[in-house]
Amino acid sequence: MSVRNAIQVEHLPKHIAIIMDGNGRWAKEKGQDRLFGHLHGVESVRDIVEGAAELGIEYLTLYAFSTENWDRPEEEVAGLMELLVDTIRKEVPTLNKNKIRLHVIGDASMLPANAKKELAEAINETKDNQGLNLVMALSYSSRWEIVNAVKSIASAVEEGRLESKNITQDTFQQYLTTASFPDPELMIRTSGEYRISNFLLYQLAYAELYFTSTLWPDFRKENLYEAIVDFQQRERRFGKTGDQLKK
Ligand code: IPE
Ligand code: IPE
Ligand code: MG
Repeated sequence: MSVRNAIQVEHLPKHIAIIMDGNGRWAKEKGQDRLFGHLHGVESVRDIVEGAAELGIEYLTLYAFSTENWDRPEEEVAGLMELLVDTIRKEVPTLNKNKIRLHVIGDASMLPANAKKELAEAINETKDNQGLNLVMALSYSSRWEIVNAVKSIASAVEEGRLESKNITQDTFQQYLTTASFPDPELMIRTSGEYRISNFLLYQLAYAELYFTSTLWPDFRKENLYEAIVDFQQRERRFGKTGDQLKK
């Protein structure tokens, strides 16, 4: 029996965020180079995007490349960028068929010109889709995002578009790259690492965290279902007491 049957469909998280980690170690276990792992990681992305769309998840954010990942060996970075551009180009028809809308968050100025162009086209070609919102975090880091938000807010104040006394949490949220998405309720990290690695630091304030030792290239729909079932067994208290929630 699939774990899928254990999912309570009326209590799905609206937004799931995933740190897709472990491609390099997966490849190493097989005596292959790191890019082989990234190549197989794409299979997992396909399966998980399809799985999330089938369940009716509204937002899925995938951490694909961090700002810090630019410091990896040149060969790996170049290979990853090529894989990215290639995959996006090839996947647009499938995204459209499954009514998936693509969004990208991150520092686009760091991306090679062809990657920027492919991304812009894919975003435009999927913009009317009303199903799953697929958010790719690319060249993304949360500290970059937060500092950027602060700079934009400072400019708005300087130019008289905003008064500092009117800055609230809602204002701040509007200046983040995720302004139009709800906060993730469930954050999954694969590969047995217990850290956030500069991912959505502000947005994950009350997310349930799920860590699994499965390496990303082995992560499939069943693993996603397991994470959702686990999420559904948690008591989300948001600072209140358990008794208060029962009232
Ligand atoms: C995740 O896998 C993919 C990216 C960060 C681009 P890694 O490449 O980090 O794989 P490990 O962690 O070295 O095994
Ligand atoms: C986090 O993985 C970034 C992505 C999955 C894109 P890393 O492999 O870069 O993280 P660290 O270095 O282990 O923290
Ligand atoms: Mg890693």
